[in-house]
Amino acid sequence: MDTDFNATEKLKREVLTGLTHSSKSIPSKYLYDTAGDRLFQDIMKMPEYYLTKCELDIFQNRTAELAAIITADPRPFDLIELGAGDAMKSAYLLQHLLKHDIEFTYRPIDISGNILEKLADRLGNEMPDLKIEPLQGEYFDMLAEATSRSSKRKVVLFLGGNIGNMEWDEIRKFCMELNQNLTSGDIVLIGFDLRKNPHTILDAYNDQAGITAAFNLNILTRLNRELEADFDLSRFQHYQTYDPLTGACRSYLVSLSEQKVAIGGLTVSFGQNELINIEVSQKFSPEEIAALADESDFKSLTTIEDSKGWFVDAAWIK
Ligand code: AVI
Repeated sequence: MDTDFNATEKLKREVLTGLTHSSKSIPSKYLYDTAGDRLFQDIMKMPEYYLTKCELDIFQNRTAELAAIITADPRPFDLIELGAGDAMKSAYLLQHLLKHDIEFTYRPIDISGNILEKLADRLGNEMPDLKIEPLQGEYFDMLAEATSRSSKRKVVLFLGGNIGNMEWDEIRKFCMELNQNLTSGDIVLIGFDLRKNPHTILDAYNDQAGITAAFNLNILTRLNRELEADFDLSRFQHYQTYDPLTGACRSYLVSLSEQKVAIGGLTVSFGQNELINIEVSQKFSPEEIAALADESDFKSLTTIEDSKGWFVDAAWIK
């Protein structure tokens, strides 16, 4: 009950901070309520959304190479996955490691206890020999928890292009913090969506069926429910941009009229055509990825691309 209360207070504080700023925004992490999770599952199945298929291609077809990077150091390890979700991709790696009798414990970290429970049940059935210890909470809190529970070397997975859902200053801060939470010899494997034909990128976030639009608008439905807001969804519209010069793909909601909305006891005014910044999905060049490793004190080990060359998993070592 207390946890729910605190979560709602945090949601209210962060949303009102974002919506009372001169350029309005809502943190993209709030896209993922139950309906948002379902819509994101639909996005991953859309023909235009290539990211999941590309990284699945890497995990399905380059599994031995991934495993070789991890097991070059023969010591047993903790395999920590940040934002594990349904572990659809990493399951291929887990299977491979088990098949080759590699000693490791899988520690999936997710903010959603519900998702972790389902994951542990499913993997327990599919891989009875898997040692799995889920950790529910924020990434760095749980990484610290994993380090306090076990002194084994760490291999950290951060897949799906999730790193792109941060602004550049946050990306740099995240990678530095990751480095500070690890020990010499620990490895990270990060999924980056690469820059490519701008139409391909824009189409992935501006699909014909309008699923991405529904995904973004759902954040307002969530605020209506959880903060007793009164957003009229028909008066907001999804708008997507991609800037090939910076690699930033951004989604916005546009207010279609001048309007006032009650949110958590306050009234927020929107002008006609005023934007709410919802999410950035940053696209990277290989040079930017290498520089990021450098700046955050990691050494690049290797990168593995999918067969189209659209997505890369980069392996770094501390
Ligand atoms: C979760 N994340 C990597 C997705 C992305 O591609 O940025 C979220 C998403 N937003 C709209 N479509 C997908």
